[in-house]
Amino acid sequence: MTDKSILREKILQLKEKRNAIILAHNYQREEVQDIADYTGDSLELSRTAASIKCDVIIFCGVNFMAESASILSPEKTVLLPEVTACCPMADMITVSGSRNLKTQFPGYQYTGGYRYPADFTLRDIKNLHPGVPVVTYVNTTADVKAESDICCTSSNGIKIVESLDTDQVICVPDRNLSAWIAKNTGKKIIAWDGFCHVHDRITAEDVTRVRKEHPDALLLAHPECRIEVCEMADHVTSTSGMLRFAKSSDAKELVIGTETGLLYRLRKENPDKIFYPLRKDMVCPNMKKTTLNSVLQSLETMTYKIKVPEETRIPAKRALDRMLEIK
Ligand code: 13P
Ligand code: SF4
Repeated sequence: MTDKSILREKILQLKEKRNAIILAHNYQREEVQDIADYTGDSLELSRTAASIKCDVIIFCGVNFMAESASILSPEKTVLLPEVTACCPMADMITVSGSRNLKTQFPGYQYTGGYRYPADFTLRDIKNLHPGVPVVTYVNTTADVKAESDICCTSSNGIKIVESLDTDQVICVPDRNLSAWIAKNTGKKIIAWDGFCHVHDRITAEDVTRVRKEHPDALLLAHPECRIEVCEMADHVTSTSGMLRFAKSSDAKELVIGTETGLLYRLRKENPDKIFYPLRKDMVCPNMKKTTLNSVLQSLETMTYKIKVPEETRIPAKRALDRMLEIK
């Protein structure tokens, strides 16, 4: 037996004993995806966490995802195998702070609305735009969700914003997703200057280069990519949206504009198609922290428990539930 198969065996035995379910995001390492009961994008994993029957959820992803699982299923023990697995974009926005608002910075204009610098707090923006609903990307802390009207993911952001009956909407924290939503809804979006370092590094030149290298391939981009990259893509969607698109498309070659972990499922589910990363360095170090060893250790020691205090959980759940109600 190889080391990996011994680890797998131990995980499966302990999982049964603990009545645990393993959820893994589409960016996780191959061996972690293989051991998972469910793999998916943020929306699918939130829905699964809310509906699944078990005592323990092992969340192989980053901390905001485990937090969402705990918010939706407080009766379950939610474990994050690697306690430092975080999303830097989620940490770019805070609810409030001690920063002095010396001037009422009006935001700077960008496609479809305004964008505020990341040293503003969510309460600053809400005070500057009273009555404007706040749509919060799930890549945020529970505190930020609790201050929001409704959450969204990369797969439903446009639908969520369209469901609101106002012309103006505050969208935090991803400036790129906000620009994509602004373009596709025609609403005035008041945005934030947050970004994902993995997706934001892709430029229009990268797209031009890859199009030359693979002239017959279709190009898929995640909405966390810059607006000019999304505008050049053949299709813009979430990670699981890319899996669905690749399966149903007649294209034999596809360029994938998201974290390279998705290529594993794409290749496994479509052995007759060829997939190229838009750039090979689209790797999220936080998503790669979780290993089979950390999953086993998590089950053995029941660490690291993710629990959101009730005063935050209840308003945060309201924002997540509102999102989940929209089909
Ligand atoms: P998806 O919801 O599309 O899987 O995206 C999550 C994420 O963190 C993207 O970087
Ligand atoms: Fe956060 Fe980007 Fe990593 Fe997704 S890929 S978890 S948005 S840093």
